[in-house]
Amino acid sequence: MSAFDYKEDLALAHKLADIADAITLDRYQAQDLVISTKPDNTPVTDADRATEQAITTAIAKDRPHDGVLGEEFGSTHEKAKRYWVIDPIDGTKNFMRGVPTWATLIGLVERSEDGSEKVVVGVVSAPALSRRWYASEGSGSYVIFAKGAPKKISVSKVESISDASITYSDFVGWNEKLSSFRKLLDDSWRTRGLGDFWSHMLVAEGAVDVAIEPALALWDMAALDVIVREAGGQFSGTNGVNGPFQKSGLSTNGKLHTKIVEALS
Ligand code: IPD
Ligand code: CA
Ligand code: CA
Repeated sequence: MSAFDYKEDLALAHKLADIADAITLDRYQAQDLVISTKPDNTPVTDADRATEQAITTAIAKDRPHDGVLGEEFGSTHEKAKRYWVIDPIDGTKNFMRGVPTWATLIGLVERSEDGSEKVVVGVVSAPALSRRWYASEGSGSYVIFAKGAPKKISVSKVESISDASITYSDFVGWNEKLSSFRKLLDDSWRTRGLGDFWSHMLVAEGAVDVAIEPALALWDMAALDVIVREAGGQFSGTNGVNGPFQKSGLSTNGKLHTKIVEALS
């Protein structure tokens, strides 16, 4: 399928992001924000739920045959040839405390005849940062700042770990990989715990060279995968298997990818 074929899907993804931004920005720092705890002991707000519901309703209207997988309301994608993967708010803990690093993540996954799956469209909308990143298969990656003109982005050219800037979320969830992760950070040029979508979008922009998270779900990664790849980078699990379908996420500029996977193994 040519890049042109995803134009309408990308336009829909932007429309979904506009719908999301209107809801999330209205609820961000609201005095009456309702926060509850999910069975997995993580917080969710009324904004997470309202955003996912609004996006799902819009997809059902515009693409009745597509499936949806959302963090808050589960999936209708088992039999669909294409499905939208939605994280209504990535960085809920930031959102509820007034830290502006949160985003709505929208990815479109296509299933091939052989059963393989690939993310073909991705939008990451971070309205409190006045930024939106997006990509579609074969068309490159872009960032829009303050609703200005889209700017094409690409990854860095750094080749060695000793020159690399590495970003991560925190030290939770590394289990048996924790000591190799700490050594990798020690061996690098610079490290920052930026977290969430933000680390990965900075890899796509070439502002950092590596982003790593040890425990993620598909909705945390689908949109990031295509944006990092279309910017010239590589997205895999920390095990090195390409794509967002592992249970962890590793974005690099490509040149560093094997070195990072080996350092973590
Ligand atoms: C979280 C973020 C974070 C990751 C957590 C996720 P949420 O998503 O992606 O980076 O470390 O595992 O749950 O809950 O804010 O959408
Ligand atoms: Ca998330
Ligand atoms: Ca979320």
